[in-house]
Amino acid sequence: MAKGFYISKSLGILGILLGVAAICTIVALSVVYAQEKNRNAENSAADSASSTTTTTAPATTVDESKPWNRYRLPTSLVPISYQVTLRPYFTPNAHGLYIFEGKSTVRFSCQEATNMIIIHSKKLNYTTQSSTGQRVALRSVDGSQPPAIDRTELVERTEYLVVHLQGHLSVGREYEMDSQFQGELADDLAGFYRSEYRENGQLKVVATTQMQAADARKSFPCFDEPAMKATFDITLIHPAHYQALSNMLPKGPSVPYPGDSSLVITEFKTTPKMSTYLLAYIISEFHSVESKSPDNVMIRIWARPSAIAEGHAEYALNVTGPILSFFGKHYDTPYPLEKSDQIGLPDFNAGAMENWGLVTYRENSLLFDPESSSISNQERVVTVVAHELAHQWFGNLVTVAWWNDLWLNEGFASYVEYLGADYAEPTWNLKDLIVINEVYRVMAVDALASSHPLTSPAGEINTPAQISEVFDTISYSKGASVIRMLSDFLTEDLFKKGLASYLQAFEYKNTVYQDLWSHLQKAVDAQSVIKLPASVSTIMDRWILQMGFPLITVDTSTGEVSQEHFLLDPNAEVTRPSDFNYQWIVPISSIKSGTPQTEFWLNGVKKAQDSRFQTSGNQWVLLNINVTGYYLVNYDENNWKKIQAQLESNPSVIPVINRAQVIHDAFDLASAQKMPVTLALDNTRFLIRETEYMPWATALSSLNYFKLMFDRTEVYGPMKTYLKKQVEPLYLYFKELTKEWSVRPPTLMEQYNEVNAISTACSNGLQDCKEMVKNLFHQWMNDSKNNPIHPNLRTTVYCNAIAEGSEAEWDFAWNQFLNATLVNEADKLRSGLACSNEVWILNRYLSYTLNSSLIRRQDATSTIISIASNVAGQGLAWDFVRSNWKKLFEDFGGGSFSFSNLIQGVTRRFSTEHELQQLEEFKKNNQHIGFGSGTRALEQALEKTRANIKWVNENKEIVLQWFTANSQ
Ligand SMILES: *[C@@H]1O[C@H](CO)[C@@H](O)[C@H](O)[C@H]1NC(C)=O
Ligand SMILES: *[C@@H]1O[C@H](CO)[C@@H](O)[C@H](O)[C@H]1NC(C)=O
Ligand SMILES: *[C@@H]1O[C@H](CO)[C@@H](O)[C@H](O)[C@H]1NC(C)=O
Ligand SMILES: *[C@@H]1O[C@H](CO)[C@@H](O)[C@H](O)[C@H]1NC(C)=O
Repeated sequence: MAKGFYISKSLGILGILLGVAAICTIVALSVVYAQEKNRNAENSAADSASSTTTTTAPATTVDESKPWNRYRLPTSLVPISYQVTLRPYFTPNAHGLYIFEGKSTVRFSCQEATNMIIIHSKKLNYTTQSSTGQRVALRSVDGSQPPAIDRTELVERTEYLVVHLQGHLSVGREYEMDSQFQGELADDLAGFYRSEYRENGQLKVVATTQMQAADARKSFPCFDEPAMKATFDITLIHPAHYQALSNMLPKGPSVPYPGDSSLVITEFKTTPKMSTYLLAYIISEFHSVESKSPDNVMIRIWARPSAIAEGHAEYALNVTGPILSFFGKHYDTPYPLEKSDQIGLPDFNAGAMENWGLVTYRENSLLFDPESSSISNQERVVTVVAHELAHQWFGNLVTVAWWNDLWLNEGFASYVEYLGADYAEPTWNLKDLIVINEVYRVMAVDALASSHPLTSPAGEINTPAQISEVFDTISYSKGASVIRMLSDFLTEDLFKKGLASYLQAFEYKNTVYQDLWSHLQKAVDAQSVIKLPASVSTIMDRWILQMGFPLITVDTSTGEVSQEHFLLDPNAEVTRPSDFNYQWIVPISSIKSGTPQTEFWLNGVKKAQDSRFQTSGNQWVLLNINVTGYYLVNYDENNWKKIQAQLESNPSVIPVINRAQVIHDAFDLASAQKMPVTLALDNTRFLIRETEYMPWATALSSLNYFKLMFDRTEVYGPMKTYLKKQVEPLYLYFKELTKEWSVRPPTLMEQYNEVNAISTACSNGLQDCKEMVKNLFHQWMNDSKNNPIHPNLRTTVYCNAIAEGSEAEWDFAWNQFLNATLVNEADKLRSGLACSNEVWILNRYLSYTLNSSLIRRQDATSTIISIASNVAGQGLAWDFVRSNWKKLFEDFGGGSFSFSNLIQGVTRRFSTEHELQQLEEFKKNNQHIGFGSGTRALEQALEKTRANIKWVNENKEIVLQWFTANSQ
């Protein structure tokens, strides 16, 4: 799946939403954005919540020696093929329920003699077979007599249909099992589900799917594990004027359904051997646009007819062809299917899902309207499309054997999405953004003692809730960061050679991550230019099996470099043991006073000494060029001062990514008490003359931690004055560049930084800025049909105008939100509405999140989080979450992912004993309800709150003095 959260760069900084700051953050970046929720979220939970609750209680009494009580399938039976026919109903039945009917035949072979068939089945009601009087019928493929069925049972906890047999199935023989069933086509965003939208005032229903990770079993009985690959013949029965889509193209034209002339039958071609979680079928009244890739693959983009008519699918269509052919070359393997469909759905949990040949998206991750979408919306589309298309090979053609290796699948795609998107938009410098969006984002989490290694033993991941928890920032962003580092030290060419050999060796099969290492090793061994200090697996094991990352400390007087496990909280206790003692094998690139040095390896030892790192006179060194290494760097104070002097005199000698790094690393070091906080603040002084996006974005997100800790204290006044002084030249630079905000600057990075300039200037009280946003917003209020605000600027203008305004501004924006037809526009309004300073308005807005006719379920948690990011809404959102925990948990808990974001989002400001106590009580009082996939987030929040309290106690005075001294 694509990462869910939509991180809108434009929101980034506004103080209101966002930020990643050092200690604080935990997934802050991801948590915030105003816009959506994405990844998994919401929901689905009703189901998993109920199943998890029912299961925890009796857990002690469950007899684990019975195979149907274990969450992992036995290995006795292996599926070969499925024939599945499904008929969803587009109107509710007599009980008001939307349902689907299905029948399926699964062929499997017997690997070990067994007297039972255990197959996944969730919330399906079976119709008795007339031949057997049982839920299923069984036959041998070779015509021999199979053992008779003794009885069948449904085991709710482990989600199995168990067929007990009177005799044993024979090893080596193949069998077929038939069943007929009914399920609910619920609006729960999981399995075969229902999405709704209105067109010309009429309610329209879409039947669609989301199988990952463990919901194919909710659509038909199946061996629902990724290594249980099989072929699938999907047949759909549907109204004649609806479009039926699946992973494959239809075998031929749809044929009339006997007995009901309004229906037709569409039969799809047999899929390649694939995992159940990648299946998809969708029946809708959608339209499409179509083209061919350079390699002649048929490409279609599907969406609501009005979105297609308005051209919103054109951008995705434009970039898909180039991206598909880029990956074909990158993997040295042709696209494995004959077509690539992509579809934007009104209700969708994740950001997107890489179903083979039929990728599903949230609308805002696929559709783009040049008239009213911002450039960050456009970047979102190209990167999510690249992410999903990268999976068509890596993930779909070759699949990890079990979810414990999900990080390889998602980390890899989260890395190469930047390469694919960069190919489609070569002028945007997208590859630089990985440092902010992945590396720094995940370091904030991975530097906590409660972090966890990338991979975990397969045996530790069993239940659907545990599987769901693996879809976290560590898997995505740390996975991407370490794979990028690996690709960098191998060189991309060598990495690609190993990768292609891996894909070709394992196509249509499953792997463990060590298989990739061994193919990369073969590529290394076949050449002699790149020399590594150890094997690929020896180097990588330390990054995969240990949590966290190193801090590299340099003493430039002696040239000594040393490493230690970096923890944001200096007092945190690491209880998780490591076989490697928290030492890494670290590739170290560097420059000395502007001159690049050759790579140095710190080879798993605590310290080493090298002349590359020794300086004399005015010389300085800077390590980790372009932050390709997944580590932080600290220097002796003398070297820091020389770097600062360089930045203040001629910053261009230092690469732009490293100008961001200097700020980022210093703030993290200050959090960890490895550096005086004033030295870190000194590193922001050069910004008064900086116009580049990366250093500004990094500074604002690091300083966002200061804002969160101090915006309820007397430190905030001087801090605002300092920021206003620093940002004013940037604001004026963009005011001139954009001819008083009437045209956009030329590049993507400049457009992002224009937004930073406005949001920082306005939120820190620059009068010119406040007037500008108010005027723009009032112009719009006076003529609501013509919005004069450029889409790039809308998020920040809405937010600041609503913050400055009162009920009239809020109500106007709310009505625009209700009326918005484009989801990107609705999202901008939804986040802006959270910026009000009126307590009663914010409380009313919070109550709307529980009413799905006002705020879609998929958007509820992100709306609550936006309100919590507003200092005026912080306490309200926390009270709201506390008092509605049970309902929130029932609606969004269990297997859902954004639930953990909710906990992180509402506790980010916590920095007092009183808040810590409230959080502890919250944990205690809600044990009986549970925290589901938010369990880990709650522990992290407790840890973070303790660290915040300590940090504020120790730093408040000096920070106040520094801002006061530097705001003159
Ligand atoms: C399945 O059976 C249960 C129990 O009879 C019933 O409550 C539920 O509505 C049925 N579901 C469908 C989709 O028919
Ligand atoms: C798609 O490509 C066409 C042809 O290059 C171009 O004219 C059009 O502006 C592009 N559309 C978008 C939304 O980028
Ligand atoms: C560092 O990144 C910049 C782009 O920001 C790129 O131009 C430069 O070549 C990179 N430097 C190295 C040593 O890879
Ligand atoms: C909402 O849309 C309808 C139909 O397009 C329009 O008549 C109405 O004026 C709009 N309301 C607002 C507040 O813009």
